[in-house]
Amino acid sequence: MIIAVPKETKFKENRVALVPSIVKDLVAKGFSVNVETGAGMNSFFNDEAYKNAGANIITDAQTIYSTADVVLKVNAPQPQEIALMKKEAILVSFMWAATNTELVNACVSAGISAFSMDAVPRISRAQKMDALSSQANLAGYKAVIMCADTLGKIFPMMTTAAGTIKPAKVVIFGAGVAGLQAIATAKRLGAIVEVSDIRPETKEQVQSLGGKFIEVKGDDTIKMEGGYVKGVSEEFLKMQQELVGKHVAEADIVITTALIPGKKAPVLVTEDMVKAMKFGSVILDMAVEQGGNVVGSKLNETIQLNGVTVIGEGNIPSLLPMNASDLYAKNIQTLLYHLADKDGFKWEMEEEITKGSLIVHKGEKRI
Ligand code: NAI
Repeated sequence: MIIAVPKETKFKENRVALVPSIVKDLVAKGFSVNVETGAGMNSFFNDEAYKNAGANIITDAQTIYSTADVVLKVNAPQPQEIALMKKEAILVSFMWAATNTELVNACVSAGISAFSMDAVPRISRAQKMDALSSQANLAGYKAVIMCADTLGKIFPMMTTAAGTIKPAKVVIFGAGVAGLQAIATAKRLGAIVEVSDIRPETKEQVQSLGGKFIEVKGDDTIKMEGGYVKGVSEEFLKMQQELVGKHVAEADIVITTALIPGKKAPVLVTEDMVKAMKFGSVILDMAVEQGGNVVGSKLNETIQLNGVTVIGEGNIPSLLPMNASDLYAKNIQTLLYHLADKDGFKWEMEEEITKGSLIVHKGEKRI
């Protein structure tokens, strides 16, 4: 079976789907691996390293797509790249299929099968394949570092001969995978950390990391499904805004991570809340690609709103490409070994991980 790793073409993408150590393992198991020239360069893996691991280096994208049995990517290929794939070939990448009809249709037209990394069920035995978590965890860490670098202050309390510096105050919205890592990182740097989430079980998790939980009285309209928030009422969001508004006004840094899978991200920081913040404070909107948690944040831009710096970096894991590619490669390898061996895919259609992540099967839509 020929596995292909094309170079990522998305704007500002530094990651690569397979790293040399994983290529070595795949080759040892009998797979043949083709890597496009320069595919790993932005993650600091050169062609030589892939060659030494047993990969074939392919110089043009057309050949890499048209000769592959399995294409492994971080971001989904463009429709014209999918059209180059062999009928019944297999694609594995992030797809965000629920909001990406054009991509799903391109897979159907090409007659391929496609597994989506973002649709792997979040069950215990699939933890090693959970690319959402591996990437969000790194992003949560990096978000704090980016804010720390932008803020004109230090994080910890410091007593000096010239006076005592108060610790920085960090407010974090959303205590999922990214939010929890952001809390831990900000605490390690010495900040006071306050957190808002609407899943009740997060209170204990936040406190165990040393964060203070901002509690909004529960509301029956919060819909949960499989551990995810499925929807929140306008009234609840209003109540939440009033309560957290006070904390935001006093914050040096606000990091927002709140997402609702398959939907636009909830607006949590309004224009008025930004206006009430201190001159020189910093906001990082990690949900900017899904519509944003902060009114006024701009995708892939850092802007000033009334003296507040608002960072709208859309692809934070890509800023840590060495770790992000390493972990993503492990996630995708584990999924591949679960689904296939060197002789082909098993197609266990009723098995939970296959069922959850298979978006298109031999040209047929499954969502
Ligand atoms: P996510 O990226 O979908 O959302 C981030 C956070 O935003 C969540 O904690 C969510 O509750 C919160 N949020 C949504 N609306 C909000 C609002 N209006 N205000 C404040 N916060 C809001 O979540 P993520 O990080 O992908 O994890 C979601 C769930 O999946 C969690 O229950 C987590 O424990 C579970 N999970 C399970 C895994 C497993 O069992 N293998 C692995 C990873 C996560």
